[in-house]
Amino acid sequence: MQHSYPISMRVFHWAMAALILSMLFAGLTMVQTLAPWHTPILAAHKVFGVLALIGVIARLLNRLRSKAPALPADLPATQVFAAKATQVLLYAAMLLMPISGYLMVSASGQAIDVFGWFYLPALGGESLTRFALLREMHAYVAYGFILLLLMHIGGALYHGWVRQDGVLGSMLLGGKNSERD
Ligand code: HEM
Repeated sequence: MQHSYPISMRVFHWAMAALILSMLFAGLTMVQTLAPWHTPILAAHKVFGVLALIGVIARLLNRLRSKAPALPADLPATQVFAAKATQVLLYAAMLLMPISGYLMVSASGQAIDVFGWFYLPALGGESLTRFALLREMHAYVAYGFILLLLMHIGGALYHGWVRQDGVLGSMLLGGKNSERD
């Protein structure tokens, strides 16, 4: 029986976790200030946000061709449902965050220069109403995302510390997960 996530899934998990937590932190910090560092952080936020979109698409494609380990057979059905629903919603939030950001910036008429590698054109023309709507959406998806992350981390720690059933270890890089049978 397979005990761990494939290495490609574990690398995607931790790389995306680092990128997304930095994006959430930068986003929430930059909207509260007009200090001189606001401009470079916003520019970095947009470019790394585009990288996050490419990353989540690559991650989803990798997910479709990979086999994840089964959850422990004795896990109550409600907990299996909660774990699966949180994971689906996390993928949805990972897509909606950068898409709403890109469409918001598009509505202000700006293209995005991604490290000089390529330009993402502004889609759909300028519109102040659409900009305001997408800005609200970007913020509310971020708040929902933080809530989902707290549930996800809470669940992972419950498996690791309370149940000690190997589920947490199955996603760690180089972690042991032999407790699960
Ligand atoms: C994983 C991807 C992303 C995450 C987690 C993220 C997160 C955030 C957060 C938490 C905020 C603050 C929201 C608020 O409280 O008002 C924010 C603001 C912002 N984000 Fe993102 N973002 C992402 C991708 C993007 C992308 C791809 C773009 C554009 C290409 C973008 C453009 C912006 C802009 C322009 C703001 C500032 C809006 C304002 O001035 O109020 N974001 N982002």
